[in-house]
Amino acid sequence: MKSVAVLHASQLITLAGPKRPRVGVEMSKLAIIRDGGMLIRDGIIESVGLSGEIEKNARDAEIIDARDRVVLSGFVDAHTHLVFAGDRLDDFERRAKGESYEQIAAAGGGIWSTVEKTRAAKDVDLFAQAKRRADWFLQGGTTTVEAKSGYGLTVEDELKILRVIRRLNTETPIEFVPTFLGAHAIPEEFRSAPEQYVALVIHEMLPRVVEEQLAESCDIFCERGYFDIEQSRKILTAAKKLGLKLRMHVDQLTNSGGAKLAAELGATTADHLEKTDEQGIAAMKAAGVQPVLLPGSVYALGSTCYPRAREMIDAGLAVIVATDFNPGSSPTPSMPMVLSLACTQMKMSPAEAVTASTINAAYSLTRGEKIGSLEVGKLANFSIFDCEDYSELAYWFGVPQVHSVYVHGKRVF
Ligand code: NIG
Ligand code: FE
Repeated sequence: MKSVAVLHASQLITLAGPKRPRVGVEMSKLAIIRDGGMLIRDGIIESVGLSGEIEKNARDAEIIDARDRVVLSGFVDAHTHLVFAGDRLDDFERRAKGESYEQIAAAGGGIWSTVEKTRAAKDVDLFAQAKRRADWFLQGGTTTVEAKSGYGLTVEDELKILRVIRRLNTETPIEFVPTFLGAHAIPEEFRSAPEQYVALVIHEMLPRVVEEQLAESCDIFCERGYFDIEQSRKILTAAKKLGLKLRMHVDQLTNSGGAKLAAELGATTADHLEKTDEQGIAAMKAAGVQPVLLPGSVYALGSTCYPRAREMIDAGLAVIVATDFNPGSSPTPSMPMVLSLACTQMKMSPAEAVTASTINAAYSLTRGEKIGSLEVGKLANFSIFDCEDYSELAYWFGVPQVHSVYVHGKRVF
């Protein structure tokens, strides 16, 4: 492959720093190079520095002029529910009339309505819908996406979703990191016998998922009316024994002690955390759990209860922000929108939001040595934005500022 040189970026946001997720004041340090450039060979970053220096070794390279533009690592979206059938427009209208997420679910909407449509969908149709949405991620500057199952809730339907994720990996430029979320809701047919569903997840779904290597992590919706602490502990302990890492939906609608359970089980991440208190924060800190904050879901549900990002950063947690892209609570694939919400609603600084959506997210997906920053030896996954200062990404909300997106040094948008 030919070499490529990016030159004259108004800001090249390198995020160079320690080889681990960033905490506390480190989250504000973006290691910016003004008039920055980088040389890419075979899809890998060979050098990073001032344009003047980079240019000297770029004689036979294809030149990308990033004058007056910001260059940043591709966003790493660490929490999505990408593969599902249909939409939830009826939920959306009902919420606009004042019904809550829980009321709508109890009345036959919610996760269950998407499960019915997803079960009925053929894998090729699920793939086609997901592929279209994958383009939305690219258009927003995202190049790595964690993707969960969870709208199948039978052995075959969960496997069907995970296989669609696997196929997306080979047929789109995005790298998808699969997570098994068979414990997303108790399906209707097990309503009166939830323990039997827990057993199905443990004894039939998990072994198949692991056998076919369809997921790197196991997730659960630990919440009143979904899976309680005991059921969550059972399922996740079984998943861990099979070698899966753990990511968990906790304390979204009620503070049920989910963050503490994540700490007890040594989960990689605890996600949502809208209702998590200082004890939960302290437990996550002690156990090294990374919080994944999902302000898009708070916004789209019309709530004002955002998680306590400031306290988490001040406590030294390696905070992540992600979209939670799903048809119910967070129908957005846009990381720039999430950056805006992080700053305006959770009082994060633009620099902290950038760190939370790139390098910190990459480490939570065990890819921190490969992606998430623009450093020598890493994959050349990056986006060029039509603005001169990175803070503008969070500031001009709703404005498409992505100029172009590159994966392995090749332009994909
Ligand atoms: O992360 N909380 C559980 N799961 C999703 C919502 C899924 C849905 O409503 O379809 C979430 O918000
Ligand atoms: Fe989610």
